[in-house]
Amino acid sequence: MPKNLISVRDFSKDEILKILDAAGKFEKEGQRPLLEGKVVAVLFFEPSTRTRLSFEAAVNRLGARVIGFPDASNTSVSKGETLEDTIRIVSGYADLIVMRHPMEGAAAVAASVSPVPIVNAGDGANQHPTQTLLDLYAIRQTQGALDNLTVNMVGDLKYGRTVHSLTEAMSDFGANFIFTSPEELRMPRKYLDFLSSKGIPYTETDRMEDHLRDCDILYMTRIQQERFPTRADYEKVKDVYELTAAMLDGVKPGMKILHPLPRVTEISTDVDDTPYAYYFRQARGGMYVRMAVLSYLLGVL
Ligand code: CP
Repeated sequence: MPKNLISVRDFSKDEILKILDAAGKFEKEGQRPLLEGKVVAVLFFEPSTRTRLSFEAAVNRLGARVIGFPDASNTSVSKGETLEDTIRIVSGYADLIVMRHPMEGAAAVAASVSPVPIVNAGDGANQHPTQTLLDLYAIRQTQGALDNLTVNMVGDLKYGRTVHSLTEAMSDFGANFIFTSPEELRMPRKYLDFLSSKGIPYTETDRMEDHLRDCDILYMTRIQQERFPTRADYEKVKDVYELTAAMLDGVKPGMKILHPLPRVTEISTDVDDTPYAYYFRQARGGMYVRMAVLSYLLGVL
């Protein structure tokens, strides 16, 4: 069985730290042809800018080649080919498969039939583990360490796969969580139970202004229209939070704002020029983290 990255729980704390260290080295040293001769398939059944392009950039910077598609409408999926058969075929062409899919559990299904490593680049509202690794990279870069931080997650905590993965990962580092969301978009019970089972403290609120001054990391998320059962459900909550520069008075000096992006209305552009905004640098770090993930899963790290 190849080593896969389906959930952030597939990597131990030591493995996570190894990936972050390697990403730091890639950031310092630039490109290295560690994967020369390899082929990586990048299969996106759902839209993406950052994840797909940073994976492709990572493959290129490591000297490997990319095959794949940015949407499945021109593939034989449109003729009715199953995900399993698609993966069986592509795994005969590539040494590793990166896949994003709208169905929760799709990455695990792919891994169940693949002889090559599968990297989950987002499966529905479930998990987005490489986003979490790049979030951890940004958190460590800005705070100096990952331990004992207060992380305030704001927005769509129900459907937001990035906050699910990040909650699991940060629980290994003694985090204190604040979950800020409207009632309809609360963090799912299974993640709250998981934290309780580990004795990790969390607070829930629906008011963003309540805890802005308490946190080291303010992790903003988009209300994701595409995950709601109806347009009316989305309309009810779509503009519930908008962070503006004026709201940042009195926050901790070292506090940083992260966002997996894309943003819509939840962070006003006047926040971009404050010393707290880190989301664009966060996204850039993703390329180095993905270089590390690919190198690790292909056995050269
Ligand atoms: N953060 C993230 O997954 O962005 P994309 O959807 O653009 O890949």
